[in-house]
Amino acid sequence: MKNSFLAIFLVFLFVGWFVILCGGQEDQDVAPMETKEKERLYLAIQGFIGKQWNGSDLNPDPCGWTPIQGVSCDLFDGFWYVTGLSIGPIYDNSLPCTNAKFSHQFFELTHLRRLVLSGNRFNGEIPVSFRGLTEVLIIDLSRNNLSGSMPLTLGGLTSLLKLDLSNNKFEGKLPKEIGNLKNVTLVDLRSNKFSGGLVQSLEEMISLKEMAMSSNPIGGELSEIQWENLRNLEILDLSNTNLTGEIPESMAKLKRLRFLGLNDNKLSGNLPPKIVTMSKP
Ligand SMILES: *[C@@H]1O[C@H](CO)[C@@H](O)[C@H](O)[C@H]1NC(C)=O
Ligand SMILES: *[C@@H]1O[C@H](CO)[C@@H](O)[C@H](O)[C@H]1NC(C)=O
Ligand SMILES: *[C@@H]1O[C@H](CO)[C@@H](O)[C@H](O)[C@H]1NC(C)=O
Ligand SMILES: *[C@@H]1O[C@H](CO)[C@@H](O)[C@H](O)[C@H]1NC(C)=O
Repeated sequence: MKNSFLAIFLVFLFVGWFVILCGGQEDQDVAPMETKEKERLYLAIQGFIGKQWNGSDLNPDPCGWTPIQGVSCDLFDGFWYVTGLSIGPIYDNSLPCTNAKFSHQFFELTHLRRLVLSGNRFNGEIPVSFRGLTEVLIIDLSRNNLSGSMPLTLGGLTSLLKLDLSNNKFEGKLPKEIGNLKNVTLVDLRSNKFSGGLVQSLEEMISLKEMAMSSNPIGGELSEIQWENLRNLEILDLSNTNLTGEIPESMAKLKRLRFLGLNDNKLSGNLPPKIVTMSKP
């Protein structure tokens, strides 16, 4: 008698669990996304491409069954958050940024990891609010019309792996805070108007594999940097950067270097013998 009671109780318990589990499963299929996060995404994209774009009409479930091309999402604690934004003419998403602006809601997408806004029409300076994007790994703002100095706040994005600001109108000295980017492997600053010499803290970007700065009136001398600190450096392009002085022997200590661009500068002296032997296969 006692045993059958227990058995019935266990069956009930089992069925109960089964129902709960199945119910849970059904809920997950509809990709829960907090209304606030959804609004942030819509308003961020509107900032890029204009108010005529109505996200809630076109893409009511942007991380689920009505994805927006160029937008990627990930689950955090059971809710979808935006982790990637790739928007512009070179993507298939036909969302041409006409009067592109960073709305304040954009900076509230705090799980953003990958930001690719290449080839749009961003004007003016990078907003200081960028410092809030603490999880960001990739920033590509290349081929825009951005100006002003490179914001110090980028030095606070210590998780950054790739930074591409090439083909803009950035100017002034590189901030010494750039040395805080200890994990960054690629920095592309080509074709801007950076000047004021090579900032010494560049040598603190110890994970750097590729650094391109060509076509900037940077000036100064190569000897300002202890090149041997950049042990992982494979590609270094400093062509057409108004450099003077000699090529220091410390550059020969870059054992992984595969490409060294120093053309179109005002360098003097001879190539140090160690660098000549370095380039032999
Ligand atoms: C987008 O469309 C919805 C539903 O049609 C409407 O309620 C909302 O006001 C529109 N939003 C904008 C910004 O046009
Ligand atoms: C680029 O920015 C400058 C101001 O810095 C502005 O005069 C120019 O019209 C902009 N060009 C484009 C194509 O937006
Ligand atoms: C830098 O990379 C290391 C190794 O991948 C990681 O453990 C660390 O958290 C990263 N630092 C930041 C600030 O993200
Ligand atoms: C290059 O550097 C020299 C100083 O060495 C400076 O006078 C000149 O203006 C610089 N050129 C450019 C294009 O910035």
